[in-house]
Amino acid sequence: MAVNLLLHPIVGLLAIALLLAAFTAKVRTRKQYVVHYALGMSSLALSSLAFALGFLTFFQAAREGVEFEETLVFHLIAAAVLFVVLLAQARMGLAMWRRKRHDVYLARHRATARILVVLAVLLAVLGAVTFVTIR
Ligand code: HEM
Repeated sequence: MAVNLLLHPIVGLLAIALLLAAFTAKVRTRKQYVVHYALGMSSLALSSLAFALGFLTFFQAAREGVEFEETLVFHLIAAAVLFVVLLAQARMGLAMWRRKRHDVYLARHRATARILVVLAVLLAVLGAVTFVTIR
């Protein structure tokens, strides 16, 4: 497999690691505010890149005759859902940062954070299954 086909999984794993780190920075007893904002925004930036690279990788691999299992479809669905939820999370985070509706958004942002962690782990597992079942 060409080296550039490995870019998508590497960027994707980094994005997931940043998301989990953003979560950890806020659930610890000593909360790290600036670190949290930086990790959250970097995770969003890398997720966007991973999403675009995913499509490029798929089309390049298909051109090279690579075949994928059906798990690829579930991987794509999980990625799309995570991306939309992460966008909503960033929007709420930025609104709180600018002191807008802080009380309303904090409860939602905390609940969504747990959903994101589950989605991120699921996405990584589906990505790993897709990767090891490539033919
Ligand atoms: C994408 C950019 C993000 C920004 C700008 C952002 C910003 C914020 C802000 C302003 C707060 C409230 C701080 C306070 O007043 O206590 C907060 C809380 C929190 N954020 Fe984010 N966030 C982002 C992404 C994320 C992500 C990706 C996660 C986890 C997956 C996450 C998890 C949390 C949690 C758990 C809290 C609550 C902390 C507590 O209980 O005090 N955030 N965030």
